[in-house]
Amino acid sequence: MRKKIILVTGAAGEIGTALIEQLLFQKVENVLALDIRPVDERLRSKVIQVVGDICDRALLERLISEYEIETIYHLAALLSTRAEFTPEAAHRVNVEGTLGLLQVAGEQSDWRGEPVLFIFPSSVAVYGLPDLQTKRQFSKVREWEWNYPRTMYGCNKLYCEMLGIYYSEYYRQLAIERPVTLDFRSVRFPGLVSAYTVPSGGTSDFGPEMLHAAAKDQPYACFVRPDTRIPFMAMPDAIKALIGLASAKREQLTRRVYNVTSFSLSAAEFREMVIKAFPKAQITFEPDLKRQGIVDSWPEDMNDNDARKDWGWNPEYNLERSFTEYLVPNIRRRYQH
Ligand code: SER
Repeated sequence: MRKKIILVTGAAGEIGTALIEQLLFQKVENVLALDIRPVDERLRSKVIQVVGDICDRALLERLISEYEIETIYHLAALLSTRAEFTPEAAHRVNVEGTLGLLQVAGEQSDWRGEPVLFIFPSSVAVYGLPDLQTKRQFSKVREWEWNYPRTMYGCNKLYCEMLGIYYSEYYRQLAIERPVTLDFRSVRFPGLVSAYTVPSGGTSDFGPEMLHAAAKDQPYACFVRPDTRIPFMAMPDAIKALIGLASAKREQLTRRVYNVTSFSLSAAEFREMVIKAFPKAQITFEPDLKRQGIVDSWPEDMNDNDARKDWGWNPEYNLERSFTEYLVPNIRRRYQH
């Protein structure tokens, strides 16, 4: 008998680390953590760790010969700024890597006679608004609006959402005997802010970077204009969304891809929140026009009514609570030496 596991890819990343901590807290003991880097030291003895590349098909084959995969949290990706520097490499990881995993999940579903649950974080980057006037006008986008991404990462995420739907609903649709297909579910995240880690290679990074710099007593030059407004969410809520969607009953869901968000604020307001907690923070604005262009194409906010209605999504941390109860106290502790 093969051991049943929950596969987490991108396990050493920001979301991966926080997700595994929460799964362990919930006494989930069969996590297989896959990443090209080793996972956080504190987690190593508590998971099955595999250091490797999701694009390595031989590795994936080896994993399915050894384990029965029940659920996949596929978090590995190159983020939006990083992907602009190496678009083809991003496509390889973000799209081909996802395709390989969808294939594995498909095979496993049919073999087990039961769908493998495939949880995929998508992003606010799938949206692309043409100009600031339109961004103001369509301030709270619905899932199907403005799906015209302007970054490689956004294109990759949008296409992988569609691949996930295809593999769940239409895979081998012409076969005489349809296989059992996987169960793909996705949440579109806003910018995520963690108290413990700083993102790398994203374009919403100005928020978390500002906050962590202030906590470390370092000056920070924000790379977008003060009036730049996008949605954000505290990391514990991102984990809550992933696990919440995974736990929902199939019949509750009316979509496979859901917006989820918490609060929306401008870079100037973000700075004010940081200064409230760290009055000596030195935060200036030095917009980088190219990265600015990317964030200007992202919506001010997302409408997450369907997630709330269908599977009871409800963020625990609004703007005030995110800062006062989660971010500030934990960041203070983290940098206190
Ligand atoms: N935080 C991501 C980025 O900035 C968006 O999903 O790329």
